Amino acid sequence: MTTAKTITPPKVTDKKMLIGGKWVDSVSGKTFETINPATGDTICRVAEGDRADMDLAVEAARRALESKPWATMSAAERGRVLYKLADLIEANLDELAALETLDNGKTISDSISLDLPGTVAVYRYYAGWADKIHGKTIPVNGPFTAHTRHEPVGVVGQIIPWNFPLEMQAWKWAPALACGCTVILKPAEQTPLTALRVAELAMEAGFPDGVVNVIPGYGPTAGAAIASHYGIDKVAFTGSTEVGKLIMKAAAETNLKRVTLELGGKSPNIIFADADIEAAARFAYDALFFNMGQCCCAGSRLFVEEPVYEQVMNIVTRRAKEQVIGDPFDQATTQGPQVSEEQFNTILGYIEAGRKEGARCVTGGSKLDRAGYFIEPTVFDNVTDDMTIARKEIFGPVLSVMKFSDVDEAIQRGNKTMYGLAAALWTRDINKANRVAAGLKAGTVWINCYDVVDPAVPFGGFKMSGMGRELGEYALTNYTEVKAVITALGR
Ligand code: NAI
Ligand code: MG
Repeated sequence: MTTAKTITPPKVTDKKMLIGGKWVDSVSGKTFETINPATGDTICRVAEGDRADMDLAVEAARRALESKPWATMSAAERGRVLYKLADLIEANLDELAALETLDNGKTISDSISLDLPGTVAVYRYYAGWADKIHGKTIPVNGPFTAHTRHEPVGVVGQIIPWNFPLEMQAWKWAPALACGCTVILKPAEQTPLTALRVAELAMEAGFPDGVVNVIPGYGPTAGAAIASHYGIDKVAFTGSTEVGKLIMKAAAETNLKRVTLELGGKSPNIIFADADIEAAARFAYDALFFNMGQCCCAGSRLFVEEPVYEQVMNIVTRRAKEQVIGDPFDQATTQGPQVSEEQFNTILGYIEAGRKEGARCVTGGSKLDRAGYFIEPTVFDNVTDDMTIARKEIFGPVLSVMKFSDVDEAIQRGNKTMYGLAAALWTRDINKANRVAAGLKAGTVWINCYDVVDPAVPFGGFKMSGMGRELGEYALTNYTEVKAVITALGR
């Protein structure tokens, strides 16, 4: 698991953006500050991109897409460069983990043991795909033969959030590059630092100039410039449902660029009385509180079958009280700060709403009396399905616990949400497990586990949790266009 060595917050200098292989200031000359959420202090200033920078990046990405060496590079060679990038990330693991913890606030032990290995694994997985992406030969009527080519979709704009900056970049970059696309990434304004460092490593790995570009900046400016750009063929977005709708609208109003969206969730985690209760309850804690509750697939609605309700509540509450909250660089810390003051205030607002609407706060419920954006792990019971805390994606350390009494009720209430990203259920009865898994409307269903995410397994949402799938072979379809080629056989 965690290493014993001490990792300290790195010294960071001001950052430029990467366009066409060059590190440049923004056209406007503007910069913005990125904040350390554990203290509220400024880490450094970062070049702030907008439309004019996006125009330059699109030009560079288009040129790279259509010219040597990228356009003619063999698929195997693309794979080799991706493997090299994975190796470089691994070789700089401690540095990148420290940068991620500094910018995002996640604990150093999680950065080292989860985010970094997860990132490397995704680059390696798609490196292996690069020379295995191909079409079909199709028998047809008449004196013809047909085959399909899976060609790169083109210049891809990618907008990522702040909760897993390195992993989200990998989920976006690795399949796009394996397919031969060129990319323009807009990292979240809260966490631009690791994306810029990985871009440096990508240049070192051997991606030609213009194949990867990074434009840091804000959503309504740099982000919107991606969604509404005529020169971008596809946009991939991860973030809120609200912004996901804006992206689709902008794509529709411009060039019908391809859109994939990975949006929020309000995932049900259902514990039946016949489950291994000790394990189910322990995992139910992590299902929500991992990464300070800042996970799109967080198990934020915990449904517990009546006979085991007290037992589950006791374990969950005990775990909340055991947490070590504080400096994310301390190896003993298990819970760091929320990512930003804005998120911090939003979450405190939801806790207030929970109390006002009559839920019972069993543990936590307050901010910590110290600098930085720390909130106690908070558990509510007596929650009803219509309460704000049971409906809204809180994206913080706030768990809602609810009782249920039979299988149909669990399925029906589990699905009572506009979201459909993930769901989980705990039971020893295989028939019940299959019935509930089939009944839940979610892109991922975990049975007797939670948060098991693998590069080879598709991830994405039903309903308003998004469209399209990331990871696995499924993600490749987002980054390719299928071309049918029909050839007449000699007349
Ligand atoms: P957001 O959706 O505003 O931000 C995500 C990314 O989209 C960032 O890079 C941001 O700069 C960009 N963006 C914002 N407005 C944009 C626009 N008009 N056009 C193009 N790009 C834009 O999410 P935010 O404000 O950081 O968090 C708000 C809520 O969204 C959270 O409380 C949570 O509920 C949800 N969220 C879900 C995530 C997920 O993994 N599905 C990740 C982050 C947030
Ligand atoms: Mg926002």
